[in-house]
Amino acid sequence: MRFMNKFSAVILAAGAGTRMKSSLPKVMHRLSGKTLLNWVIGSVSALKPDNIVIVLGHKADIVEKSLQGLNVKFVYQQEQLGSAHALMQARKALKKYKGDILVISGDVPLVKTSTLSSLLKHNKKNKASVTVLAAKVDNPFGYGRMVKNGGELVKIVEEKDADAQEKLINEINSGIYCFDNNIWKALSKVKPNNVKKEYYLTDTVEILKKAGKKACYTVTKAAYEVKGINNRIELAQAENIIQEQKIIYLLENGVTITDINNVYISADAKIGADTVIGPGAVIDTGAVIGKSCIIKGNSYIKDSKIGDENEISYSYVSGAVTGKKVKIGPFAHIRPDSVLKDNVKVGNFSETKKSVIGKSSKVNHLSYIGDAQIGEGVNIGAGTITCNYDGVKKHKTVIGANSFIGSNVNLVAPVTVGKKVLVAAGSTITRDVPPETLVIARARQELKRKNIKKKD
Ligand code: UD1
Ligand code: CA
Repeated sequence: MRFMNKFSAVILAAGAGTRMKSSLPKVMHRLSGKTLLNWVIGSVSALKPDNIVIVLGHKADIVEKSLQGLNVKFVYQQEQLGSAHALMQARKALKKYKGDILVISGDVPLVKTSTLSSLLKHNKKNKASVTVLAAKVDNPFGYGRMVKNGGELVKIVEEKDADAQEKLINEINSGIYCFDNNIWKALSKVKPNNVKKEYYLTDTVEILKKAGKKACYTVTKAAYEVKGINNRIELAQAENIIQEQKIIYLLENGVTITDINNVYISADAKIGADTVIGPGAVIDTGAVIGKSCIIKGNSYIKDSKIGDENEISYSYVSGAVTGKKVKIGPFAHIRPDSVLKDNVKVGNFSETKKSVIGKSSKVNHLSYIGDAQIGEGVNIGAGTITCNYDGVKKHKTVIGANSFIGSNVNLVAPVTVGKKVLVAAGSTITRDVPPETLVIARARQELKRKNIKKKD
């Protein structure tokens, strides 16, 4: 969606966020796997702004590093002297820019793109120099209050500077604004004449009005969207809101969630219709799950693409790709770069890593399959191990189609077992095995005379 008016965005993210009681800057805390700042960037960039300028200050290096590769500009506020002072740092980057400027804090992760777009439209339509996004809340404590006169915005008063009458106002400033190019001049007139001795961005409303410009506001219907995250309680509450929205979305789109109070589903997870997510499941970031799957018990799935009609129970799956009708678990560990083709079964206490397992092959019990390439229709007996690591390097095991690996076999890599091979149970295979052979590599069973004298 490209917004019809040209605009640039400035995201204020220089503050420390002391109430998080964290060594991380506030905007680096995560919701559903994504940093607060990335949530805001996501909502803003959906409108395709001409520029996104991010004001950094506290631990700027950490924040900047987290955004590597994104098309955003950074400016720095060395000392945090207030929100007006923060925006001032973006002046150089945007002074020649003629379009509107959307200003938003980096700590309002729940704001929707549509809310931002109506704010921008409102400013344009009313030919205003500023439009403030306001919200009606039950408890306005701590927020800037919208002081109005007959429906017209007069000024914004901060909690600490508000008189008793103003404190009763329950319409608050969300900290999200759309300005036109007059903002830069207005900013230079802001004085730190307030209890906190800070340069308040909110003072620009009165300054612009005095200069004969128009100041407007819109009130968002969804106050939760503009709620800033200031502490871990608000962080947890926001996570809850994201979860609730995600679960409702999935339920409306054909996914069954047996116990909605006992699952975690990341906002970015994709789940197909007729899939059943059982109690205790965690579907973490980067998970794409197909149709008609059953995810049972405390399964954990992350960064994986699960095909249709899979059944995964009590298992840990990360970085894997599965075909159709794959069965995993109970209690399997499917590690990164595992590719399980159609109808594969990996059963209890088996682990796979960086391995391709061909169609209809089975690793049913207590095995480790790492750095392996296994053909179709292979049966891996209980307790089989690919000995892939020599202490320095990892080596590959290749097993041809329709081979049968007996129980408790060690495959010392690098090694290739041809197709249709039968490897006898208990073998330690150290050399390649040609196709269509039977191989036994274990000590022969011997019978010896029993001549141990037992003491009575
Ligand atoms: C601000 C608004 C208040 C509004 C509230 C909404 C001001 C003066 N007040 O209050 O009216 O109701 O947001 O949440 O703006 N920042 C910097 N550098 C600074 C100071 C702030 O980058 O020197 C950034 C912060 O990181 C934050 C944003 O600006 O992202 C808001 O600043 P903050 O001091 O938290 O203002 P609030 O007290 O929340
Ligand atoms: Ca073994």
